[in-house]
Amino acid sequence: MAVGMHWLLLGSLCPLVWGYPSFTIDYDRDCFLKDGQCFRYISGSIHYFRIPSAYWKDRLLKMYMTGLNAVQIYVPWNFHEPQPGVYNFRGDHDLEQFLNLTMELGLLVIMRPGPYICAEWDMGGLPAWLLNKKDIRLRAFDPDYLNAVDSWLSVLLPKLRPRLYNNGGNIISVQVENEYGSFLACDYGYMRHLHTMFRLYLGDDVVLFTTDGSADYFLKCGTLQDLYATVDFGPVDNVTKAFEPMRRFQPRGPLVNSEYYTGWLDYWGDKHAVTPTDRVAQGLQAILESGASVNMYMFEGGTNFGFWNGADFPRIYKPITTSYDYDAPLSEAGDPTDKLLAIRSVISKFQSVPQGPIPPPTPKFSYGLVTLKKVGDLVDLLDILCPADPFVTQYPITFEDVKQYFGFLLYRTRLTGDVPEQTPVSSPANGIHDRAYVSVDGQFYGVLERDSLKKVNVTGKEGQWLNVLVENMGRINYGSDLKDFKGLIGNLTLGTDVLENWKVYPLNMDGPISQGWPHIMADQILKTPQTDSTTGPAMYSGTFKITDIGDTYLKLPKWSKGQVWINGFNLGRYWPVRGPQVTLYVPGTILSSSQVNNITVLELENAPDQPMVIFLDRPILNGTYVGKMRGDIVRSDSGALDL
Ligand SMILES: *[C@@H]1O[C@H](CO)[C@@H](O)[C@H](O)[C@H]1NC(C)=O
Ligand SMILES: *[C@@H]1O[C@H](CO)[C@@H](O)[C@H](O)[C@H]1NC(C)=O
Ligand SMILES: *[C@@H]1O[C@H](CO)[C@@H](O)[C@H](O)[C@H]1NC(C)=O
Ligand SMILES: *[C@@H]1O[C@H](CO)[C@@H](O)[C@H](O)[C@H]1NC(C)=O
Ligand SMILES: *[C@@H]1O[C@H](CO)[C@@H](O)[C@H](O)[C@H]1NC(C)=O
Ligand SMILES: *[C@@H]1O[C@H](CO)[C@@H](O)[C@H](O)[C@H]1NC(C)=O
Repeated sequence: MAVGMHWLLLGSLCPLVWGYPSFTIDYDRDCFLKDGQCFRYISGSIHYFRIPSAYWKDRLLKMYMTGLNAVQIYVPWNFHEPQPGVYNFRGDHDLEQFLNLTMELGLLVIMRPGPYICAEWDMGGLPAWLLNKKDIRLRAFDPDYLNAVDSWLSVLLPKLRPRLYNNGGNIISVQVENEYGSFLACDYGYMRHLHTMFRLYLGDDVVLFTTDGSADYFLKCGTLQDLYATVDFGPVDNVTKAFEPMRRFQPRGPLVNSEYYTGWLDYWGDKHAVTPTDRVAQGLQAILESGASVNMYMFEGGTNFGFWNGADFPRIYKPITTSYDYDAPLSEAGDPTDKLLAIRSVISKFQSVPQGPIPPPTPKFSYGLVTLKKVGDLVDLLDILCPADPFVTQYPITFEDVKQYFGFLLYRTRLTGDVPEQTPVSSPANGIHDRAYVSVDGQFYGVLERDSLKKVNVTGKEGQWLNVLVENMGRINYGSDLKDFKGLIGNLTLGTDVLENWKVYPLNMDGPISQGWPHIMADQILKTPQTDSTTGPAMYSGTFKITDIGDTYLKLPKWSKGQVWINGFNLGRYWPVRGPQVTLYVPGTILSSSQVNNITVLELENAPDQPMVIFLDRPILNGTYVGKMRGDIVRSDSGALDL
């Protein structure tokens, strides 16, 4: 505060001489102070980690054209430090390039570097390797956790320092932690430690802030002296009322809604979330009338490519869909929607918006049908997917134990006697994290699923392999269950016997597929699938040629659940029988017009008799959905073949 007043006085006397640039808080006039003037931001959240880097500039330009003067950005730690001390800031991970683009377009930046970010992202952005120490306390004053945090902040924050507004850059403020008041630990020592680290690397004059749900019980544990307290809430009827908790905790300073919800996320098996445009526009108008600064969450959501989606755990485990469209003003594919136009029109009542038309939606292509061929059952492809020796263990070990953090682990054990009668395989401790595909030799028997499908009957003969492929469907990103170990986290039983003597195969699919497998050896492979069964986990592949490149949407009619790669890029999970998401967004950036395009599908349950997929020119995110607690999985209409 003292600093801000100081700049204001001196600045207003000699604005061109020194004291600027500066960004501070004026507690007397209840506003931010940018170069000595009261300033309010109208910002939008965009997740660079959910958008191909080639499209970043296009999206930021559209945000600028809507009339926003700032963007708000999370940084997911696990996206940038995949192994302890190993960093990735290249390509789609190139945070500095993204920040350069915001600067070029004249947008200010509100940074949210975590270390925890929630964001419906795997483990809320925390690296799963933190769980190598099983009793670690996350988001708390725990030496193991803090050592890892400090080491990450020592890499990340120095990149931000020269970009701070006061240092000539465009970052006006930096959030510490994220909705910490929603986390039961309520550890002020931890928040104080973060505060010290942020000040150490970013200096004393940057505006640091916190964000919490707009209720006293959230702000109680989420706020800390010297961190400016802000709140988040979606469209409400009474904005004054919604800001009251913030005012109780902090009587003066600018009002800020750090997450004004333009839409909402989707879970597999739930109805597609939609927030009506007029409601979003009215709510925004009321916030702007109140004089508050606002950030719209999301402005563009994007896509959970690969294995990056998170999950919530209200009572049962609920994974987030691959699409993070969020019903946001810019669609998953970055196209302006009616919601964007309505928001722009509201903003124009309060400040001037750039002249000129909003860029139109980019062309979308319906490339049509592609037939696929079976490459092989997963258990017959272990030489490629797991060339190293498997782990040998009496009782099951987890993903974290074998230091593979994403994707799939295959657990196998030999039957120690004949099993002539239907006998249940089950996990008495509900220890399937998160879904298991059970077969005996080549015969697929069915699925076990966390919190819902508890038993699968099998039969078999002594010496046959019982195969249990376990899928990590995304770590919990919110609440007190962040320590979400994956794999078989308890014993499996066959009848009443605890199964023992496992071989555990960590499967690396991204590696070989990004290097051209199976297409580089198509001739050998396509002759040799050992069965033509369409049930159980298996790989399929196909190729297609195109002349015009653009975005498209992949539909997998009559497929059940699995993962898709195109030209080695992991597009994400599909699960049309669970819904509501039916198509996967395929960015044109991964397609080729000069070479044949390669598609690889891992189907986990049931493939169609004639395996084929379709590229459409529009998304289907609101297909039929199958409520998870219904027990049996019913095939829904969304698998139907309509073009
Ligand atoms: C960002 O911009 C700076 C200044 O123009 C330049 O030196 C740097 O190479 C750019 N970084 C990236 C990753 O584009
Ligand atoms: C909104 O809430 C404020 C504070 O609680 C209250 O004084 C005011 O009457 C409310 N306005 C309406 C229209 O309900
Ligand atoms: C498993 O088999 C038993 C008979 O051994 C039968 O009672 C039970 O219904 C079967 N369960 C399932 C899920 O098929
Ligand atoms: C698995 O079962 C064995 C034998 O009953 C027991 O010693 C072990 O603790 C169990 N493991 C877990 C994780 O429950
Ligand atoms: C598809 O795979 C073939 C065989 O490996 C390869 O030559 C081609 O470059 C791949 N296509 C693309 C677009 O990567
Ligand atoms: C799904 O969304 C599309 C496009 O917004 C809309 O036309 C259609 O009516 C919706 N279908 C259902 C079942 O809600």
